[in-house]
Amino acid sequence: PKRIGVLTSGGDAPGMNPAVRAVVRYGISKGCEIFGIYEGYQGLVDGGKFIKKMDWKSVRGWLAVGGTSIGTARCMPFKTREGRLQAACNLVKNGIDSLIVCGGDGSLTGADVFRSEWSGLIEELFKTERITKDEATQYNHLTIVGLVGSIDNDMSSTDITIGAVTSLHRICESVDSIGTTASSHSRAFVVEVMGRHCGWLALMAGIATGADFVFIPERPPADDWETTICNVAHRHRELGKRKTVIIVAEGAIDSALNPIKVDQIKDILTERLGLDTRVTTLGHTQRGGSPAAFDRILATVQGVASVDAVLRSTPDMPSPMIGMSDNQVTCKPLMKAVELTHEVAQAIGEKNFARAMALRDPQ
Ligand code: F6P
Repeated sequence: PKRIGVLTSGGDAPGMNPAVRAVVRYGISKGCEIFGIYEGYQGLVDGGKFIKKMDWKSVRGWLAVGGTSIGTARCMPFKTREGRLQAACNLVKNGIDSLIVCGGDGSLTGADVFRSEWSGLIEELFKTERITKDEATQYNHLTIVGLVGSIDNDMSSTDITIGAVTSLHRICESVDSIGTTASSHSRAFVVEVMGRHCGWLALMAGIATGADFVFIPERPPADDWETTICNVAHRHRELGKRKTVIIVAEGAIDSALNPIKVDQIKDILTERLGLDTRVTTLGHTQRGGSPAAFDRILATVQGVASVDAVLRSTPDMPSPMIGMSDNQVTCKPLMKAVELTHEVAQAIGEKNFARAMALRDPQ
């Protein structure tokens, strides 16, 4: 039987637990043995008690639980070749031939590097007598499948990532709450939301809550944005609105690529419009709590698809990433998705914002 390791890596996302649950239960139903690798890549590097065989009951009740119960980490040792060598050794010693990684852009990049180095790592482990000749022959290939778990929805080649919808919902609830107190006091609020270099959460929250203005990295505002936001806020006030809400992605920048900060916006609204303005940084509340129904379902169907992808894989196939496109589960080359994702950051760095937007939405 296939022996599949499953790990979650990078920032946790609501839906990671349902994804692991689906991998465990569907994997078992297909005759595979499933191993939970605890604490992300760190557990893979450390081995021992961090690699545990999972059974049907191990994941009982996980659908409704936020975060990731097998733990996660932003692991520095795995970024080094020595760390990856140790990780490869632990996989071989546990008889694990396939890995399903649920994480964001950085974690899946790490997975891709690991697989591309695999034969070299095995050779080195054999030469340094850390594994036997038989093991080197048996484990000459590693199957890796990526599941995209990230609240940021920043991965190319998929319409939506596990956790993004729950996080968006949480942001909307918070902005709605801010709205009632803002209206009561006739105040302005500048709300910072997560998303790293991606503006999806901010943009969608702006649409869903009717914000007055949204700042996102992929489309910096025109140079006179200070005047624009004042005009917009003033116009909305003239129409009788008692609140002003501006949503700022944490990665927001101006057209010269300088960060746009919430306090900067607060000062402009206060000084130019005389608005009583407060700043709210939503922080990790956006990442916490029980997954929304959509993320439970997305994670479940994608978890099942990831096991199927392992079972279908052959040594000559590139590692796949499970995604979603036009409401269908997709299985596309992981390396390509990682490359396209990095191209967005590159396009922004080159001030080619039209290309950044096009890459985010390739249709
Ligand atoms: O990638 C998810 C994310 O929540 C980003 O939106 C944010 O920039 C980052 O992780 C925060 O990371 P940490 O939890 O390590 O502070």
